[in-house]
Amino acid sequence: MKEKLEQLLARGREEVNAASDEAALQQVRVGLLGKKGDLTAIMKGMGGLSPEERPVIGALANRVKQELEAAIDQRAAILRREAIAARLESERIDVSLPGRSGWRGSKHPITLVTEEVAEIFGSLGFGIAEGPEIEHDFYNFEALNIPKDHPARDMQDTFYIDNDQVLRTHTSPVQIRTMLACEPPVRVIAPGTVYRRDSDLTHSPMFHQVEGFLVDEHVTFGDLKGVLTNFISRFFGDGLKVRFRPSFFPFTEPSAEVDVECVICRGAGCRVCSQTGWLEILGCGMIDPEVFRSVKYDPEKYSGFAFGMGLERMAMLKYGVDDLRLFFENDVRFLRQFA
Ligand code: DAH
Repeated sequence: MKEKLEQLLARGREEVNAASDEAALQQVRVGLLGKKGDLTAIMKGMGGLSPEERPVIGALANRVKQELEAAIDQRAAILRREAIAARLESERIDVSLPGRSGWRGSKHPITLVTEEVAEIFGSLGFGIAEGPEIEHDFYNFEALNIPKDHPARDMQDTFYIDNDQVLRTHTSPVQIRTMLACEPPVRVIAPGTVYRRDSDLTHSPMFHQVEGFLVDEHVTFGDLKGVLTNFISRFFGDGLKVRFRPSFFPFTEPSAEVDVECVICRGAGCRVCSQTGWLEILGCGMIDPEVFRSVKYDPEKYSGFAFGMGLERMAMLKYGVDDLRLFFENDVRFLRQFA
């Protein structure tokens, strides 16, 4: 038995040192020291020993057991250290690698133009007003002196929700809402989304406008010209010719359309201005007394002007964009150029 125990100790040490990971080591431990292991098997022979031999073999068996346990613990510590070292190696970070830079968003060109328009009119004392995109017939048409049989009400142009409600076809209804809510003097602009049943290369069913108006005593067409000329030179840059052309809108009288010298060819004539040298950029006029009556302003006491412009068009001219659809496709390669 003494020999068997000594052999077990020697073989056990080899097996322990050969165990290549913690799971293998656990198996070796069970094989050597477990209930059904080699040591237990040898100890079954104790019964056949003489009383003198028994304590000697017993002590030896204890020592073998302790030495094997110590060897196993030692091996376990080594394996654990090796595992940690391997993990550190595999998870190592090279802090000297160049970083991946994050993507930064940019403002949409329509937002940029809206902000610039608001800033210029803000410096002239105009506040900002808003109105709903689902609008009552009264605000979108009736109060703006657009009678029931006016062509602008044609089903071709207007998205009707029901008999009484539409998707607003312009930002002019914000004039009505603002005038009903405040007494003169008022001067505000109203940027926003508008909708029309129109879709081709140069028309989108959803687009953006800025409305603006000013009401006070003694406001004249000269004030209108002064404010809009100032705005245009600040928005497009100094030195461009501007002209006011007679026109018609139901809610203004007299009415005008404003043309600016073509920003592309400077008046020489090109594809963008259809060889005319001029670009039409907004509609305007003196607010019609009928509009004042529908908001209970006294047309004898007050006068005012109003104007409206399309923001996509302003953005196309300002940034030299020749396709309206680019504003709605949200292709980042296009949008990133405005960062
Ligand atoms: N509401 C007009 C449109 O959508 C634009 C417009 C023209 C607004 C003349 C005005 C104005 O305030 O005076 O076509």
